[in-house]
Amino acid sequence: MYVARPPMGWNSWNTFGENIDESLIRETADAMVDTGLRDAGYTYLVIDDCWSQKERGPQGELRADERKFPNGMKAVADYVHSKGLKFGMYSCDGVLTCAGYPGSYGHEFQDARTFAEWGVDFLKYDNCYKTKSMNGELLYRRMSMALKASGRDILFSACNWGSEQSWNWMRSAGADMYRSTGDIQDNFESVRNIAESQVDKLCCSAPGCFNDLDMLVVGMYGKGNVGVGGCNDAEYRSHFAMWCLFGVPLMIGCDIRNMTPQTASLLLNKELIAIDQDPEVRPPYVLTGPGTSKVEPMFFRHLSGGEYAMAGFNLTDKPRDVHFMFTETGLPTDPSVAFELTDVFTGERVGVYNEHLCVPIGPHDCAMFRAKLIVR
Ligand code: DGJ
Repeated sequence: MYVARPPMGWNSWNTFGENIDESLIRETADAMVDTGLRDAGYTYLVIDDCWSQKERGPQGELRADERKFPNGMKAVADYVHSKGLKFGMYSCDGVLTCAGYPGSYGHEFQDARTFAEWGVDFLKYDNCYKTKSMNGELLYRRMSMALKASGRDILFSACNWGSEQSWNWMRSAGADMYRSTGDIQDNFESVRNIAESQVDKLCCSAPGCFNDLDMLVVGMYGKGNVGVGGCNDAEYRSHFAMWCLFGVPLMIGCDIRNMTPQTASLLLNKELIAIDQDPEVRPPYVLTGPGTSKVEPMFFRHLSGGEYAMAGFNLTDKPRDVHFMFTETGLPTDPSVAFELTDVFTGERVGVYNEHLCVPIGPHDCAMFRAKLIVR
């Protein structure tokens, strides 16, 4: 499989953890269609850890937990496919998954065939209970080979949290996306730490293998499995804007059956999704400027069609002015050319600028624009 754009979808872990079952998955599939998320591009529905029985079957095969999934995984996959969605599942490179269910170590080819028979389109592959003597690169490579040999096109979502400097080898090991950080938590500090840890690795993300900054916590408001503290709407806005600006996978983690209007409008924001999914998938770059943190200065990203994205984040607890210095973009500074800006949150045309724009931003909030270079 060649993955040309950052994958988008929903994953069960952030909100539901081990509390997953067939009704939840069916209702989530329905909600992905009814809310417009599927048509906005969120096409993968992924069941994370805790779906299987605690023991393998008599032939060493993985089996779905019959209490949670009484009709088996093929029936779940069929339902998900009937809604025009793709179906994702989860396993692990160790002897157990992180939550203590059977892992795929030593069963890679058998498990890949099982997933293919069930109609799986996406496999998230975790990194717990790895035997100490085993090298992570080899284990990810082995599952990638097993998926390729399974006879089904299955997106390989590697999840080793950036250990063993995985940004250097995940692409050649066959991953289509790779988790580069520890688990996100539903609070702004976690979002900020993840973003800051990846700013200098965004260049290791491109078509064919995307840096995955973890599932979104947008819309969780402190509820669920990683709901530690919660964020306010300004913080969710900054979180979603960062992931879109960075051009990374967008896997929703909230309960989409019960989204607030603010959550739905943010996750469905066409301008932001278009920036995330821009066909040329270039990473943004940081312009020098005032700021105390790596993600405080202004970001600038070249989009396709001669357009640009610009963003500034206020990571502090106080209101702050963000200064966009157009002279630092590396583009022509001739007075006859200027940037025409559209606010990605309101869709409004903000004006035409060619030297400097100062935007006051509230605590933990952001400003983000699509910019077009025009000749005046
Ligand atoms: C660790 C991963 O980083 C999480 O995203 C989640 O998949 C859990 N394991 C499941 O146990």
